[in-house]
Amino acid sequence: AEFVTPLTFQSISSNPVITDMFAAPEHWDIKHISLAQKADLFVVVPATANVLGKVACGIADDMLTTTIMATKSPVLFVPAMNTNMYDNPIVLKNIDSLKHSGYLFLEPDSGLLACGAVGRGRLPEPRSIAEQAADILTVGQDMKGLTVLITAGPTMEPIDPVRFISNHSTGKMGYAVAGQAIRRGARVILISGPVNISAPVKAETILVKTAEEMQQAVMEHFGEAHILIMLAAVADYKPVQYHNLKIKKSEDDMTLVLAKNPDIAKRLGEIKGDKILVGACAETNDIVENAKKKIINKNLDLIMANDVTQDGAGFGTDTNIVKIIHKNNDLVDVPLKSKKEVADILLDEIAKLRKDGIL
Ligand code: PMT
Repeated sequence: AEFVTPLTFQSISSNPVITDMFAAPEHWDIKHISLAQKADLFVVVPATANVLGKVACGIADDMLTTTIMATKSPVLFVPAMNTNMYDNPIVLKNIDSLKHSGYLFLEPDSGLLACGAVGRGRLPEPRSIAEQAADILTVGQDMKGLTVLITAGPTMEPIDPVRFISNHSTGKMGYAVAGQAIRRGARVILISGPVNISAPVKAETILVKTAEEMQQAVMEHFGEAHILIMLAAVADYKPVQYHNLKIKKSEDDMTLVLAKNPDIAKRLGEIKGDKILVGACAETNDIVENAKKKIINKNLDLIMANDVTQDGAGFGTDTNIVKIIHKNNDLVDVPLKSKKEVADILLDEIAKLRKDGIL
């Protein structure tokens, strides 16, 4: 409103320009709610450090941030600011957390900035922004009408009030698949073990702790899903006995007796009917052989096998290296890519199954 007046925007775009949350409405509606519901896509250009910080922290104190908060449509941020501001660790942390929550970003260009400095932070050309918007609105809808149930993260099997058995899964891979499936138009039911990242805003997220809780949540929603993607690292065993009080240190040796947890994917394989069932495995050796055994044992349509011995693959990383193996032994080798890119390749392979008439 300071650089270019609202009147200029209004005249050039032939659209009303809203700047004041409490301006008298032309006709009765609650403006930020009605705009939020109307939008197919919400693009914030330029996205300042201030607006990114507010949304990342859940602050909604003006027309723009309340509308962003209320919308269910995809939100594309196009940051533009001084290089030092863009490189500020707090800004980068906010961008990272927004990305994890499913907000979309178009990275700024490098070049001469309004403040005279040269570097990263320049607003991309309008054509790039328009293309990105069109890409989100068109390419992303091949999963419209489908409900995808995804499990993610580890399970946590309690030993006593202070100890548990778990693993290194952070949920990053499962949450990336959830985010991309939403972007492609699917309804996503995300059943997640305990993780420290935020779920995509539009995912219907159910948080669980143990394998048994995960199985119960999966079974409750099984009927609604067309596609089941099991990316959780479920603990195969749990302590036979839960100690209500903290186990005290005594003998030099201690034996913890474990019992088998339910195998959720295997159970789904028995009842899946014409639903698509996808599994994953984190392996350290004989990756393809082990993955193929799991396809047969759990009646999977395909499996995504991670070689967790490779740098940049498997648990906790933002990248992954996988082999996607179909039931008919077709194999797609995916080299080092971001988990988001790997998620899209996995969804492309699932789309092939749909074309083959499985769904
Ligand atoms: O979360 P990140 O840090 O991003 O890491 C991602 C990942 C490596 C955890 C993930 O991509 C992955 O590979 N998950 C599967 C881990 C694994 O080793 O699964 P598994 O081999 O124990 O099981 C095979 C399949 O059966 C999996 O789909 C699993 O969800 C499922 N399973 C296993 C045991 C069990 N009791 N119930 C199950 O449903």
